[in-house]
Amino acid sequence: MASRYTLRPLMRSARCQLQPSHSQRCFSSSIRRYEPTSESTNHERTTHFGFETVSESEKEARVAGVFSSVAASYDVMNDCMSLGIHRLWKDHFVRSINPGSSSSSQPWKMLDIAGGTGDIAFRLLQHCDEINHSPQSTITISDINPAMLDEGRKRSLATPYARSPRLDFLVANAEHLDTIPSDSVDLYTVAFGIRNFTNKEAALREAFRVLKPGGLFACLEFSGVTNPVLDAVYQRWSFGAIPLIGQIVAGDRDSYQYLVESIERFPKQEEFRDMIQDAGFLVPGKGWEDLTMGIAAIHKGVKPVELQATQ
Ligand SMILES: C[S@@+](CC[C@H](N)C(=O)[O-])C[C@H]1O[C@@H](n2cnc3c(N)ncnc32)[C@H](O)[C@@H]1O
Repeated sequence: MASRYTLRPLMRSARCQLQPSHSQRCFSSSIRRYEPTSESTNHERTTHFGFETVSESEKEARVAGVFSSVAASYDVMNDCMSLGIHRLWKDHFVRSINPGSSSSSQPWKMLDIAGGTGDIAFRLLQHCDEINHSPQSTITISDINPAMLDEGRKRSLATPYARSPRLDFLVANAEHLDTIPSDSVDLYTVAFGIRNFTNKEAALREAFRVLKPGGLFACLEFSGVTNPVLDAVYQRWSFGAIPLIGQIVAGDRDSYQYLVESIERFPKQEEFRDMIQDAGFLVPGKGWEDLTMGIAAIHKGVKPVELQATQ
């Protein structure tokens, strides 16, 4: 007799108002690589804010400053950073999850973390309705930043889900989802959010905790470009053009500089896959799907269902 794990049928299948404590940064448009830094000191744990090493508490405040600054110009930001391709990636992300599909006709309880302006959540609900005829499926859009959630609330007014009990908003840090019960969520999504988290491992552990056994973790994030020629062009574009466009379009070079540095700093595909596994998830296949030659990638993990051994 041996116990083993299996999958449930796949789911039931950045003008930055720098915080007063910020030191002024010197920016250049050249490509810079981060240098390895210590994750902790004797006194206070440190982490990365782009290519800078900062204390964990300072990072959280500065990330908040970035997203408060860019909340109103968020769509422009995304379009600038991805040349509009983020819309196609998001569409594909949602299709690949196929939310609302259920052999038992059960509605899905979904959680979109770092959901900001609702881009992913509205797509998920629409897919539930139009593709899987699951009009009872619900979603909570959660974000640490009230300004981003306010944009989401405004944008929801243009959707059929405005003021619907199927949609709610929660201000929360992804690393401490204290108000969300364990084993309560069918789907946890995070799109272009996790690279901003101070403690990514803690966020992955929380994802694992809140998901039901058999529930799906799905992440869409910038990743490692697999083609060296595209990578060279992409690096020039990211570090040369994006901060400049941020300055011209939004009057905010610093936030855009942080965003491109955070992309460079984020773990590449294999390393992030391993982090997901370390949090306890089962990873289907190789664990990720590259989008546009790895500029972005979708990572998935399933919370295992422990089956009783059969005789
Ligand atoms: C680039 S936006 C992504 C928004 C949306 N998911 C999308 O794809 O359009 C990143 C979001 O992560 C949020 N965020 C950063 N740190 C967070 C944390 N620790 N917990 C929850 N959200 C966080 C920011 O406030 C911001 O709204």
